[in-house]
Amino acid sequence: MTTAKLILNGQEYEFPVMVGSEHEVAIDFTKLRAQTGAIAYDPGYGNTGSCESEITFIDGEAGILRYRGYPIEQLAEKSSFVEVCYLLVYNKLPTAAELAAFEQKLTYHTLLHEDMKKFFESFPGTAHPMAIMSATAISLSAYYPEFLDPEIIDLNIVRLLAKFKTIAAYAYKRSIGQAYIYPRNDLSYTEDFLHMMFAVRTEPYEVPEVLSRALDLLLILHADHEQNCSASTVRMVGSSQANLFASVAAGVSALWGPLHGGANQAVIEMLEKIHADGGDYKKYMNMAKDRDSGFRLMGFGHRVYKNFDPRAQILKKAADDVLGALGVSDPLLEIAKNLEEIALNDSYFVERKLYPNVDFYSGIIYRAMGIPTDMFTVMFALGRLPGWIAQWKEMRNDPATRINRPRQIYTGATERDYLPVDQR
Ligand code: ACO
Repeated sequence: MTTAKLILNGQEYEFPVMVGSEHEVAIDFTKLRAQTGAIAYDPGYGNTGSCESEITFIDGEAGILRYRGYPIEQLAEKSSFVEVCYLLVYNKLPTAAELAAFEQKLTYHTLLHEDMKKFFESFPGTAHPMAIMSATAISLSAYYPEFLDPEIIDLNIVRLLAKFKTIAAYAYKRSIGQAYIYPRNDLSYTEDFLHMMFAVRTEPYEVPEVLSRALDLLLILHADHEQNCSASTVRMVGSSQANLFASVAAGVSALWGPLHGGANQAVIEMLEKIHADGGDYKKYMNMAKDRDSGFRLMGFGHRVYKNFDPRAQILKKAADDVLGALGVSDPLLEIAKNLEEIALNDSYFVERKLYPNVDFYSGIIYRAMGIPTDMFTVMFALGRLPGWIAQWKEMRNDPATRINRPRQIYTGATERDYLPVDQR
């Protein structure tokens, strides 16, 4: 076994080295503090491996993304979102019979308890749907308490996958003041979601195939991304043995931020602003390069991808295809392409290895599909759900899991005496 040596205050310590199946190397510092008294300082955890995982492999330099070993390009072209859910959660591609049984389960667990409709009504009409998603996801634990029985956990996984899209569609209907549309058992996962979003009670609604296909693609591309902010949050909350619904609700909250899943909403708002400002994208490009402006080019840059984001490449092409098929011409797509082109040739972006990420083009497709901007991050959550579940399940089954509890370097005041208020 290879080891790594560390010299601290003149004393030498040895630590085991781990190598992953794709030759990723880590120094095992589990005993660092016990042996040396020191801790590892790594804000943002950019150099910290928090677990061993068999779910997703990313090579940020080479632009590789694989779920359970299968390249994202192949899954995007040939698979369906439900099949990818199965793959992530159960670690194998299903047989035809397994897939049919899984589809059946995801279809028959879509209804929400009727009482839950009151939750949606108690939020103000202006509520952001991500707030409703997080609150409603955790409230499922009140209806489906979790017992340690693996069969109940598995049933709760199915319930969550099935009901999450109903919650998402109800949150939208609530925000526009329309009656909820109940799920339909004769529709596929993506068709059913679009039907609950866009049907109205007074008219029949046929889900256009171009929309359900585009949604399948978008959800597949978002399904997992190893130890990102929201997945790590799910694992961290779950490490205290909090239940699945509570852990996933925390993941929804983590995803909401504009530096993570909230970026797809922020991208469209940025493109709209540039458009309203006469389309002068060069001005915004210069602002993005000026640190003092506080402006960032949303949808650009990634903690892991330093060459290209394979999901963004697939989505750039899909944006052209979907908008073409829908007969939509969107000036924001032109602005996005222009921004991308100058950024890819600008030394500021090239030197910092900043490339379009998955959020740069997804919002343009969602917009063309008729999905409102403040639902974009909800769409991301819908796609990421199987990844969170797979990460939670793996964490739960891993004997190495301990409650997540980082340390700190304290830099505050040293001991001092309390003074009564009249003596301060
Ligand atoms: N526009 C302009 N400059 C940028 C951008 C950007 N979008 N992103 C990074 N930079 C610059 C930083 O100012 C920094 O410059 P410096 O070296 O001169 O200080 C350098 O590039 C490195 O940036 P960091 O913030 O240190 O990179 P980090 O890995 O911490 O952040 C992040 C990654 C959060 C994605 C960042 O690139 C960003 O804020 N992008 C915009 C938001 C976004 O699109 N988020 C979605 C991420 S993908 C996802 O969650 C699905």
